[in-house]
Amino acid sequence: MTESSNKPLVMILGGPNLSRLGQREPEIYGSTTWKELGNLCDQWAAEAGLRVEFNQDDFEGGMVGLIHKATDAADGLIINAAAYTHTSVAVRDAVASMEKPVIELHLSNPTAREEFRQTNLLTGVVTAGVFGFGIQGYKMAIEGMAALLQS
Ligand code: DQA
Repeated sequence: MTESSNKPLVMILGGPNLSRLGQREPEIYGSTTWKELGNLCDQWAAEAGLRVEFNQDDFEGGMVGLIHKATDAADGLIINAAAYTHTSVAVRDAVASMEKPVIELHLSNPTAREEFRQTNLLTGVVTAGVFGFGIQGYKMAIEGMAALLQS
């Protein structure tokens, strides 16, 4: 448990281009904006008995810093590392060092997409994954995180 509240704190972290959700390739990623998604996550977290801190960073080093922050101050991490999923040893190493539940999330199913998305550096170091459910995946990940934190 962290901070004064007795509800567990979960960081939700988005990688590059997720701030463009709603405008960015809506046929793949949907029409909900990142801000709207943040509000939905607050609601879903409250229903699941959790608190969430919602962050996004377009830069690899910024993401590493936020993963360190989650490691030090949160009870779990839900991460959509976006393109860094496929390229970043630094993001993978930061996640690997977080000895708390980590759920990897993708709005789409990267395995069903282009060849360059077949490399996934994160899957081997996370607790669980949610792929291909669009923004509903965030509700599933929050509920899954609540179950992981209770067990
Ligand atoms: C993504 C999938 C990644 O391959 C892509 O680079 C993204 C979004 C998803 O949520 O489906 O930016 O992580």
